[in-house]
Amino acid sequence: MTFTELKHDIISEEDVMFNSRRFLDEMKSRRSVRHFSERSVPLEVIKNIVKTAALAPSGANKQPWKFMIVQDTEIKREIRIAAEKEEKEFYRKRASTAWLKDLEIFETNEYKEFLEKAPYLIVVFKVSYDLETNPPSKHYYVNESVGIACGMLITAIHKAGLVTLTHTPSPMKFLREILNRPKNEKPFLLLPVGHPAEDAKVPIISKKRFDEVAKVF
Ligand SMILES: Cc1cc2nc3c(=O)[nH]c(=O)nc-3n(C[C@H](O)[C@H](O)[C@H](O)COP(=O)(O)O)c2cc1C
Repeated sequence: MTFTELKHDIISEEDVMFNSRRFLDEMKSRRSVRHFSERSVPLEVIKNIVKTAALAPSGANKQPWKFMIVQDTEIKREIRIAAEKEEKEFYRKRASTAWLKDLEIFETNEYKEFLEKAPYLIVVFKVSYDLETNPPSKHYYVNESVGIACGMLITAIHKAGLVTLTHTPSPMKFLREILNRPKNEKPFLLLPVGHPAEDAKVPIISKKRFDEVAKVF
């Protein structure tokens, strides 16, 4: 293995402080959005967002993810129909009473109009092993790696001035069938991406305080 110099600008403590505060403030306005506008977004923007996510760290740099970008109207419709079928089962049969109670404040239901309205759906797949090697080689810390990449994806979407929803129709295996993905890929998240509807509303929720989620030793 050869090494290269790290490219990193050393900046003043003042600037580090300023940057961290500014970014915190920017992220405070990130929300999960369930009402989208049909306004178009250039494909290049979506590609840049996905390229950002694909820079994420991963176990042994295996990069165990695939990002399927769907803009085709027919495929979006197919995904919506399949998702609504699963969600209908979820809301009517599969979800526990406690789960449904926890979801009440979001006023969500089996209807997923955003899957057709948003100009793009990004379907993230986790790749548990590499089929291109013989024998297939295992990936490490797959859930952790793909989770981090999705965090970067959501952050990049927000930074670009767009909105998304972390959507997990349950179960999601229909996505592998519709998008014709190989057997080593498993659907992880489904994210509609675009501009919010003009009248988009979000539930009033709160985030835990710093001392509830962190402790300094
Ligand atoms: C792993 C995960 C799965 C989620 N699945 C859904 C979903 O299927 N449908 C939905 O409407 N929201 C879903 N959400 C969104 C959460 O409800 C939302 O992130 C949470 O209420 C906090 O709101 P905020 O993102 O606006 O801060 C999901 C979020 C995460 C992280």
